[in-house]
Amino acid sequence: MFVDQSVKLTDNQNERLFQGTIQQLLDESRKPNGKVLNALEFLFSEPGDLPMSQPFASDMVAWYATVGQPGAGKDTHIPVNHLRWGLCSLENAYTAFHIDAEGLCTLIQVMSGAKLWIIAVPKRPVMSTAGVFFGERFSFKALNPDDWDVEAVLLLPGTRLLMRPNVVHSVITTGHSICHGGHFYATSTIQETVCGLIHSFICRDLITNTSHHPSRLLLRRLMQFFYYGLVMEHPTDESEKAHLPDLLTQQGSLDFIAVCSLNVLGNVLHHQTYSAPNQDEDEPADQEQQKLWDQYDVNDISFDERTHIRHARGLALDAIRWYETKFEVIESKYGDRVELPTECIGLHASSLLRYKERAIAEGVKGAPHCEYWMLKKQIKNALQLHPPSLAACDDYLQLKDGNNNNLVLNPEFVQGLLIRPKNTWADFEGRI
Ligand SMILES: [Fe+2]
Repeated sequence: MFVDQSVKLTDNQNERLFQGTIQQLLDESRKPNGKVLNALEFLFSEPGDLPMSQPFASDMVAWYATVGQPGAGKDTHIPVNHLRWGLCSLENAYTAFHIDAEGLCTLIQVMSGAKLWIIAVPKRPVMSTAGVFFGERFSFKALNPDDWDVEAVLLLPGTRLLMRPNVVHSVITTGHSICHGGHFYATSTIQETVCGLIHSFICRDLITNTSHHPSRLLLRRLMQFFYYGLVMEHPTDESEKAHLPDLLTQQGSLDFIAVCSLNVLGNVLHHQTYSAPNQDEDEPADQEQQKLWDQYDVNDISFDERTHIRHARGLALDAIRWYETKFEVIESKYGDRVELPTECIGLHASSLLRYKERAIAEGVKGAPHCEYWMLKKQIKNALQLHPPSLAACDDYLQLKDGNNNNLVLNPEFVQGLLIRPKNTWADFEGRI
C-alpha cells in the first residue's frame, strides 16, 4: 500500500491510497516527472534490526530479562512487525505534522537517499496538557509561529535519528530514499510516553497516521522488569540496572509510578477494550455484542492478553504498596506528606475523562467505539482496586483551577518534592 501524493489532496485522504508493487515505485523513480509515491510500512518479520534502538530501548532489555516469568511465556513473541519497518519514498514525498502513536519513541535510519526531518518545538509546555490540538489556535496543517518553533535535520545515508515520544514532527523526502525505522519505549522518556499515549488514545484520528496496539505488551513487560528488579530485588547486571529508575530522585520515582499507572490503567487505555468481541471498527455493536460488553465485561481483547493485563495490573498495585512502605515523599515548602502514586494515577484517570469530554465536544475520535460512559466505567473498574486513586480522581474532577488540563504533575510542584527512604526495623538501633 502506498500514498500517491501526485493526486490532489481532498478531504478524503483515502483517494491517495493505492495498492501497488515495489516495481512500480522503482519505475516511477526512474521517470523525470514520475509520481510522488510514499510507501510507509514494509513490515519486518525478523528481529534482526532490534538492536538499532540500543542502548536506549528499555523495552528490549525488559523483554529479555523477563522471558519465562509468569504471564511472559516463552511462546510470546516480540511484536516485531509493529516495532520495525522499512520505508520507501520518492522525492518530494511529504508527511504532514503529527505525533507518533502509543507514546512510542521513534528511530529512523537512512539507507539511501535523503530526508528532511522537521521537529516542532512548543514555546510553552503544551504537550503535557489535554486539548493542545483543539481550538482555533492549533492546526497541524499550519502551526502557529507564536506557539511553535520549527527545527529541521537533514538525514543522509548512515545517519540514525532517535526521537523522544510525544513530539510533533513532519518529514519531507528530499531525494528518493530507502529507510529503516522503528519504535521503542525507554524508561528515561516514560513520562512523555504517558502524555503521548493519552493523546493517542483520546484523539487518534486527529494526531497520528497509524496505531500499534501490540506495543502495550512491551509496557507490561516493563512493569514485570521493574517489579522483579526493584520490588523483588532480583539480581540485575549493569546494563539492566541502567534501565531501572532511581527511586530516590523525583524523576526516577515518577518514571516508576508512570509505568505502574499505565499498567493499573492497562484495560482503560487499550483501544480494543471498547469494542465487543469481533466488532469491526466501523460497525455498531449488535444486541448480543452490547450485552456481552455491558453485562459481562467481555470485549475484543483476547483471553490470553486480558490475563496478562490482569497480571501486570496486580504487579503494579503491589509495586505501589511496596513503594509506599519504602519511601516517604514530602512537599518541602510546607512539609506535607504527598501520596505520590495516588496523586499521579488520580491525575491520569481524571485527565482522561476531562480530555474525552472535550474531544467529544470537538468531534474528535480516539479509541474505536469509546464513549464517555464506557471510559468512566472502565476507570471505575480499574481504580476500585486502589480506592485512594479513585478518590483522588474524583477530587481532580471537582477542581476548577487552571491545572485542570495537565496530564502529568506540575513541574514546579515536582521540583519541591523530597523523597527519602522510610525508617525500617532493620535500621532500629535502640532497645525495645
Ligand atoms: Fe512520525
